Amino acid sequence: MLKETLINATEAGARVLQHYFASKNLQISNKEGINNLVTEADHASEKAIMDTIHQQFPDHFILSEEAGEIATASDYKWIIDPIDGTVNYAHGIPICCVSIGIEHQGAMVMGTVYNPFLKEFYFAEKGVGSTLNGEPISVSSETEVSKACLVTGFPYTYLDMPNGPLEVFSRFIRKGVPVRRLGSAAMDLCWVAAGRFDGFYEHKLQAWDSAAGFLIVEEAGGKVTDFSGKHYSPYQPSILATNGKIHDEMLLAINQNK
Ligand code: IPD
Ligand code: CA
Ligand code: CA
Repeated sequence: MLKETLINATEAGARVLQHYFASKNLQISNKEGINNLVTEADHASEKAIMDTIHQQFPDHFILSEEAGEIATASDYKWIIDPIDGTVNYAHGIPICCVSIGIEHQGAMVMGTVYNPFLKEFYFAEKGVGSTLNGEPISVSSETEVSKACLVTGFPYTYLDMPNGPLEVFSRFIRKGVPVRRLGSAAMDLCWVAAGRFDGFYEHKLQAWDSAAGFLIVEEAGGKVTDFSGKHYSPYQPSILATNGKIHDEMLLAINQNK
């Protein structure tokens, strides 16, 4: 019932994304930072997802990007990004998705990422594996960063810090390593899990950006840590998700100037 509700909730959110996509009248407003957007589709998707969860599990804890925390005493916590890639979405760019992770007693146990425009539904269950549209997926086998294809993202409010996003980006670019920037952390993670990218890093994410995606990478055989190499927690900002084989080399490159 948990898995079924997760899938139903993800599909309910995705139907909302499809409904409003490329609409000329989409209502858009700003959050903190000049291009940190929220649209009426974010709110409607969130409502559709939460209604579906509440019908089956009215007492489960929810953490959702727009609604915040709906705290309960339950062992189960749903971590929801009703649209990951809102700036893309608001510009009619189909690199965006619904992302939902479920924690049980503090450990991520299931996650979905669904991009209805590319028709890609990613699902992971702890200890069982990751799938794309029902077919098992696995990370790439690349062993050298110099031959890798990477992806990253940048926060809405630039982090002016030593070894910040632009410094690390320029370090890889100067070495001739391709680094893409899609604008959806959940898609970035899934494309590492599917073996399209060899690694993804980002300096500052929120729990809802990565909750599902990091489990999808791990269950596809990848490795996910923070920038210090510690096992990943979605409640701290930095993330490095790789095929495992280039992980240590990427950690060194990211931390080079510290
Ligand atoms: C954003 C995306 C983006 C990442 C930002 C996130 P949103 O999420 O995941 O790729 O670089 O840090 O905030 O705002 O589209 O849900
Ligand atoms: Ca997000
Ligand atoms: Ca979002």
